[in-house]
Amino acid sequence: MASATITVTDRGRRRVLAETPDRRAGMTDENAGREGSGVGSSRLRVVQVGAGGMGRAWLSTIGESPDVELVGLVDLDRDVARAAADGAGFGDVPVASRFEEIVEALGEPGPEALINVTVPKAHHPVSTAALLAGMAVLCEKPLAETVSEALSMVAASELTGQLLMVSQSRRYWRNLAALRRQIEQIGPVGGVSCTFYKEAHFPGFREVMAYPLLVDMAIHQFDLARLLIGSEPVSVYCESYNPSWSWFAGDAAAVAVFEFAEGVRFTFDGSWVSPGLETSWNGEWRVSGRDGTAAWDGDRVPTGQDGASETLPVEVRDEPEQIAGSLAEFVRTVRVGGTPWGEVHTNVHSLAMVEAAIRSAESGTRVLVADVLVDAHAQAVADEQRADVRAVLQSWPSVPQALTAG
Ligand SMILES: NC(=O)c1ccc[n+]([C@@H]2O[C@H](COP(=O)([O-])OP(=O)(O)OC[C@H]3O[C@@H](n4cnc5c(N)ncnc54)[C@H](O)[C@@H]3O)[C@@H](O)[C@H]2O)c1
Repeated sequence: MASATITVTDRGRRRVLAETPDRRAGMTDENAGREGSGVGSSRLRVVQVGAGGMGRAWLSTIGESPDVELVGLVDLDRDVARAAADGAGFGDVPVASRFEEIVEALGEPGPEALINVTVPKAHHPVSTAALLAGMAVLCEKPLAETVSEALSMVAASELTGQLLMVSQSRRYWRNLAALRRQIEQIGPVGGVSCTFYKEAHFPGFREVMAYPLLVDMAIHQFDLARLLIGSEPVSVYCESYNPSWSWFAGDAAAVAVFEFAEGVRFTFDGSWVSPGLETSWNGEWRVSGRDGTAAWDGDRVPTGQDGASETLPVEVRDEPEQIAGSLAEFVRTVRVGGTPWGEVHTNVHSLAMVEAAIRSAESGTRVLVADVLVDAHAQAVADEQRADVRAVLQSWPSVPQALTAG
């Protein structure tokens, strides 16, 4: 098991010194968050912000977790917050329309962490305010609406030394972990493909976004591609479109080809307006390696075959899944350190894939992810309202270096 030490550097940055290549200290596929974080100290005092559809799912997970205690619930609509809290068995938990109100009402000891389940455009202001108030933050995906906002959040995390982790809940799936074990058996990976076809009806913010599939959904599959390939994206060519019968205002379908390090390709083909023969919400995956192929339908146990047409062994373990998995990893990191999946520095790459894909769709050209990061950094410096956060942004030797150093 990896052990880790957190030191705070002169820039207030949380740094992790891990003794093994698995920088998620103490986390392995065997034990990642099973039955909670496995860290036996007092419950982490959390405030949740956002009590909509996903917010209610989080309340239910928090209610079942041995690791956390909900001490406040916030939503712009206070009545929504009260109803959600009561409905989830948190009738005695205070609610408010601003998180500062809850912090003030609670006094000491205040909340230690904030779970941000607001709409994407509120992720930057809410998460940043919590970091600056000295709280660790677990934020729903996507990290932010834009990569430039995301970089500002990276800087705020460095400035405060507080953990900011994005809950990429689709990483926490037993059969996905089994797929990863199969991928270890097929040698170097050359290509990964994901097909995603759903008939999705989401009244609300998604139906009015410009690129709902790429921004709100494909971030999951793009992030999974990074996990399965094990390196960072280099470039993308993407075509985004909206079928004539679409009930979304923005593009509900897209195809994209990403190049990763060492020439590995990831292809994504997705639609949110596709009735019949739907794929899993995780998408349908095929991973092609030098010595064989592994495939996952996104739900069931993966399958695999080597070059001699022999079936690859598969092993499914009892691991925590979805947001319970990310919550357990978050608590473990706050308590004992480490670098979790979804830590803000690394998660920027997943969001950059989305932004690069949109830029490619709009320009009709292949886009380098590094160009997106450089432009986003300039935008972040120009937009930043806080001098201390801007100073951190300006101190980075380069964006790729800053993100790697996280
Ligand atoms: N991991 C997953 O599989 C998954 C699934 C669904 C949604 N999500 C993510 O969860 C987040 C929320 O999605 P949702 O479907 O619950 O949206 P929603 O619109 O149903 O709910 C969002 C809630 O946030 C509140 N809110 C907005 N801005 C706020 C602010 N500044 N302060 C306090 N409250 C604020 C709104 O009033 C609303 O009640 C999004 O980022 C979405 O992408 C993730």
